[in-house]
Amino acid sequence: MSAIVLQEVSKAFGEVHAVDRLSLSVGAGEILGFLGTNGAGKTTTVKMLLGFFRPDSGRALVGGGDPCEPATRRRVGYMPETAYYYPYLNIRELLALYGGLCGMSRPWIRKASEALIERVGLADAGKRLLRHYSKGMLQRAGIAQALLHEPDVLILDEPFTGLDPVARIQLRDLILEQKRLGRTVFFSSHELSEAELICDRVAILKRGALVWSGAVGEVAGDGGQNLERIFLKMLGGEGGVS
Ligand SMILES: Nc1ncnc2c1ncn2[C@@H]1O[C@H](COP(=O)(O)OP(=O)(O)OP(=O)(O)O)[C@@H](O)[C@H]1O
Ligand SMILES: [Mg+2]
Repeated sequence: MSAIVLQEVSKAFGEVHAVDRLSLSVGAGEILGFLGTNGAGKTTTVKMLLGFFRPDSGRALVGGGDPCEPATRRRVGYMPETAYYYPYLNIRELLALYGGLCGMSRPWIRKASEALIERVGLADAGKRLLRHYSKGMLQRAGIAQALLHEPDVLILDEPFTGLDPVARIQLRDLILEQKRLGRTVFFSSHELSEAELICDRVAILKRGALVWSGAVGEVAGDGGQNLERIFLKMLGGEGGVS
């Protein structure tokens, strides 16, 4: 069964065709890396999967449901590209707020928060306000927030951006652990080496349209080509924004 389905999905902003008849599916328990240059339409796609934007045409399904339905959203963990959290909260208060919104009980929130704060390496910064967090620390807080309610489907928009090498390894392990638990992970990224390491499949977007999707093993076996080469080939050497 597919955990995420996009059927001929399009979204335009005036003249800009941000997403153009995109069809893609992600199987339950699969890790998909969603790649493309700046402005390729990754975040717009993510926002349609979360029901923040409705597609102009086509259909998006998450866990078999409409992303705009609260029941669907409850099953999804989301980490935004740029997080704007309440600045006067510390990490425990942030997680208590999000856990409460997800309907988690207080003891469950407390237990899950402590474990996640440890896992993302924020234990020493537990008392600091989020307004004093560095960029990477906010990314770590975002990872903890996305995982807190143990969602079936994780949608992460550039989760590796700004992380130091240790945090990257921790995030890689966390993502692989989600897969072992049978959960589905959809993440956008510019980090081709990370995608190569952890994804079952990657999808490459160019000007809103899918230009390649396939198993990472297929890429590695393609005449010795790695994901970087495939990426460059599919984008025709373009370096500008879409
Ligand atoms: N709210 C909006 N209003 C107008 N145009 C938008 C809006 N959101 C996105 N766009 C445009 O849609 C296109 C796709 O943007 P999107 O943010 O989806 O790209 P992206 O692949 O996530 O890029 P990046 O790698 O830089 O994050 C861009 O041309 C962008 O300018
Ligand atoms: Mg983006």
